[in-house]
Amino acid sequence: METVVSGIRSTGKLHLGNYYGALRNFLKMQNEYNCFFFIADYHSLTTHPTPSDLHGNVKQVLVEYLAAGLDPDKSTLYIQSDVPEIAELYLFMNMNAYLGELERGASFKDKIRANPNNVNAGLLTYPVLMAVDILIHHATKVPVGKDQEQHLEMARTFGNRFNNLYKTEYFKEPYAFSYAKDLIKIPGLDGKGKMGKSEGEMNAVYLSDSPEIIRKKVMKAVTDGGPTEENQAKPQEIQNLFDLMAVVSTPDTLAHFDGLYNKCQIRYGDFKKALAEDMINATKDIRERIDDISADTDLLRKVALQGAEKARASAAKTVKEVREIIGFRNF
Ligand code: TYM
Repeated sequence: METVVSGIRSTGKLHLGNYYGALRNFLKMQNEYNCFFFIADYHSLTTHPTPSDLHGNVKQVLVEYLAAGLDPDKSTLYIQSDVPEIAELYLFMNMNAYLGELERGASFKDKIRANPNNVNAGLLTYPVLMAVDILIHHATKVPVGKDQEQHLEMARTFGNRFNNLYKTEYFKEPYAFSYAKDLIKIPGLDGKGKMGKSEGEMNAVYLSDSPEIIRKKVMKAVTDGGPTEENQAKPQEIQNLFDLMAVVSTPDTLAHFDGLYNKCQIRYGDFKKALAEDMINATKDIRERIDDISADTDLLRKVALQGAEKARASAAKTVKEVREIIGFRNF
């Protein structure tokens, strides 16, 4: 059976981008593959969270994993920092990752542009750590959104480079995966880029947002003055709302509003109301489970310990084998 690895950084509440890009695939994959799903708390250190923020955010992601329906008896659910073998393999793999290729990484460039005062080495070598997350369990499928595609390419590069250096076929090639035809990119509500945690509270719809908040955010989403000619192309901000509707609503609802748009009869107020209600419905089951799971510390502890044990067994085996391949003491 193929192995699957994926993770979400512990940087706060999960939004619709995390759900449709990643988590929804996890839910289906847990029934079909040998899955490892984790909370990337080492990765989240690049932005220097306080200890209490870190603690709260790790818990939040675990709660939302469970609320969404991830089953700790079907897949291995763990917290990255509970598996110190990851840090050891990261040290080894850093030796084969070159400055130039890391500096050219699109996500590194975005991050230093957004925050030029915090260009730390962890940001630079972020793709190495991510490659290690995947390679350490020999995963071949990695369910992620479109924004992670380049990181997967780098993971293949680092694994292959290790194989070439040590003349082995030890690491397998991992590929980004989605059940959808293409990798998903969920837009935000600001009319510009993707939905994200750092693009402002009003840009993202969180799985934990109340119906009132979802309505408020969607009603405030950026639109234009409306179509003036039949069948005209949609500007970015309107296309974004249609893209959101395509994931949360039925094809009939989407076709209905698309038809109205094309005939210049769309009323954005009605369109947004329908979009908000469908978002509320799409997230209802998860939202309603969050509080109860969050209060159940025994459950969370049990899940984390059980996952850590399974993930460590798998990771320790890899690190032991890698140490042998590299040639560390064997006497
Ligand atoms: P992170 O925490 O930024 O996002 C977690 C997952 O959510 C997806 N995602 C989106 N998908 C579609 N549209 C969006 N607007 C959107 N926003 C986020 C991301 O593609 C991702 O799948 N580097 C990773 C975490 C990570 C990881 C790994 C993933 C660390 N190690 C190993 C896979 C395998 C990240 O920062 O994701």
